[in-house]
Amino acid sequence: MSIFPSPSVTRLLQVLALALVAAAPCVHAETSEQILDQYRTQAGTAPDPSRGQQFFTSKHDHEWSCSSCHGDKPVQTGKHVVTGKSIGPLAPAFNQERFTNTAKVEKWFRRNCNDVVGRECTPAEKADVISWLLTLK
Ligand code: HEC
Repeated sequence: MSIFPSPSVTRLLQVLALALVAAAPCVHAETSEQILDQYRTQAGTAPDPSRGQQFFTSKHDHEWSCSSCHGDKPVQTGKHVVTGKSIGPLAPAFNQERFTNTAKVEKWFRRNCNDVVGRECTPAEKADVISWLLTLK
């Protein structure tokens, strides 16, 4: 018996390899639970959804709260407080693109936290907010 696979097995392997290449972009997509886990690990404490809600809906010595653009309960389309542009729901159950890309999440946390709190949010604050958003069903 040859040590090389038969032609049909080779063909099957080629098809499998192609399928893997085609699926590769999905390997990098994350879930909101995974992103929450990353922040939870960085924070070293358990996230608290009610603290997240409080943080999200309150002002922090600046003009806006997170709710100013995203709404008090971000299960619906929000409206940018300055430009009036609509913003899709933040809660992952209502918008499956949310919290699936760490780079995007980090970019917007950085920008929005600076606007709302005047500094970056801590990993614990981010974990609190995401854990609250995950309770919205
Ligand atoms: C001045 C308006 C504004 C305020 C205030 C605001 N956001 Fe946003 N936020 C946006 C816009 C615009 C986007 C990007 C557009 C989009 O993704 O729909 C966004 C996107 C995000 C995202 C990206 C999520 C993802 O995976 O797509 C997160 C997280 C977020 N905001 C959290 C917050 C938090 C937390 C606060 C309060 C500290 C806050 N935002 C306050 C306008 C705002």
